Formats: sequence, structure tokens, C-alpha cells
Amino acid sequence: MPFFDTINYQPTYSPARLKWDVEKQSRRKGAPFTGSARFQVLPPSLFERPENIWLEVGSGSGSFFAAMSALYPDRFLIAMERCKLRGQRLERKVAKTARPNLVGFRGNAIPALVHGVPSGRLERIYILYPCPWPKNAQRKNRWYLHPMMPHLVRALQPGGLLLWASDQKFYIDEARWICENVYGLQVLVHGEVSPNPYNDLERFSGGRSKFERSFLESGQPCYELVARLSDQSTNKSGNGSTPGCAS
Ligand SMILES: C[S@@+](CC[C@H](N)C(=O)[O-])C[C@H]1O[C@@H](n2cnc3c(N)ncnc32)[C@H](O)[C@@H]1O
Repeated sequence: MPFFDTINYQPTYSPARLKWDVEKQSRRKGAPFTGSARFQVLPPSLFERPENIWLEVGSGSGSFFAAMSALYPDRFLIAMERCKLRGQRLERKVAKTARPNLVGFRGNAIPALVHGVPSGRLERIYILYPCPWPKNAQRKNRWYLHPMMPHLVRALQPGGLLLWASDQKFYIDEARWICENVYGLQVLVHGEVSPNPYNDLERFSGGRSKFERSFLESGQPCYELVARLSDQSTNKSGNGSTPGCAS
């Protein structure tokens, strides 16, 4: 048998391992630096706007939010992409789209969110087709195990939504476990991607984003999770509060 056949990186959903990860890892690592002006990436004035704000983390070249900004003119949309090439395309697309309710930043969403997004300010956060970090040893990079996760929750306004999609079922199953068991979020949608009141899929032919389109086109099933922060959450508009977790 060739050597590569003996290595199986096919990740599996494991609540026991997730529980261990959550107990052993410091989820609050990023919290003490919240609000530090040195790391302020997004202009603070963005968050003084009256509209409800939606953020896309890892937006690629921004086709999804460019379309969504036309569908939701009463929301303010912020797309962030770290990769140089895709980030440049994003900035060009946003300029070409020329919509007053859309901005795109080429940059790292981690410091932008940790240091620059006030608590309780975002109505929606989209994470579409993130790198799944399939090797066991890399799992701390998955967004739901990353030190950014408490900040994703902190940034949501009461009743706000965290919307995930992936071609990896294990990723969405694990994200669900963490959202429910660690952060006390309510799961509204979990399963294979299909039209529902939260995902706007019916308004996009073939898929919402570039990755979704290419997965669906090739017959690869895609999965999604929509998790909601309770209306009673103590997340308040402001800055720098400690992330609110259920445990
Ligand atoms: C697999 S692509 C998906 C792109 C797009 N969401 C789609 O569905 O077509 C994941 C993207 O996340 C971006 N990304 C990863 N980490 C990031 C970070 N810390 N800040 C901003 N973007 C990031 C990557 O550069 C990459 O473009």
C-alpha cells in the first residue's frame, strides 16, 4: 500500500474532543486587547452609522456582499478579505458597485474584529466556506475554536445571527456544538444548504459565493448553520466588554 494511503486526514465530528478543546484552550486570549487604538483596523465612524450592520469574514472577491448590498439597501455591509489578490478584487468590485451601503477591506479580519468592532453592534456575521483546517493538529485555527470566536459572539447585537456555510459536514456539526454548548446560541438552521428564510439562496442562481457555486456545480453537497444570539443577551452597544459565553 502506498504511504499516502495510510494517512487519513478525513476529519470526524467529535463532541468529546471539542469539549476537551474548550476546556484546555484559552478562548479569552484576545479579550484583554479589545479596544486598543493601536490595532484599530476599521474606521470607528463605520459603527456610528444608524443602519444595522452585516459583516462578512473572508469574503473572497466580494461577489456575495456586492449582490446583497443591492438586495438589502437598508443594511450597511462590510466585507473583509485577507488574501492580497482577492482583497484587491474586492476593493475594485466595491468601487465599481458604488453602493453607499457597502464597504470592502483588504485586511485581516482578526485584529479588525477583536480591536475594532464594538460589542453588540452587528446584526449578522457571515462566514462562508472558511478553510476547514482538516488536520487534527490544525484544529485550533477553525473559527469556532479560534480566539476570535468569543469576539464574533460579543460583536452580535441581541437577536443577531452568525451564518456559516461549508462543504465540510464535520465543520458545520462542530460549529453547531460550540455555538450551542459554549455560547448558548439558538440554532435556527442546521443541515444541507437549501433555500430558507435566512440564506437568500433563492435569489442567487447556482449559489451565493464563488466557492458555493463551484461546490454545488460539481455536485459537492454544502452545509450550513444559522445560529442566533438571544434577545436577552447582555451584549450592549459599546466597546470592550468581556465576551459573553454560556460556560
Ligand atoms: C475558501 S475562501 C472562501 C471565500 C468566499 N467566502 C467564498 O465563499 O467564495 C476563504 C477566504 O477566507 C479568507 N480568510 C481567511 N482568514 C482570513 C482572515 N483572518 N481575515 C480575512 N479573510 C480571511 C481567505 O483569504 C479566503 O479568501
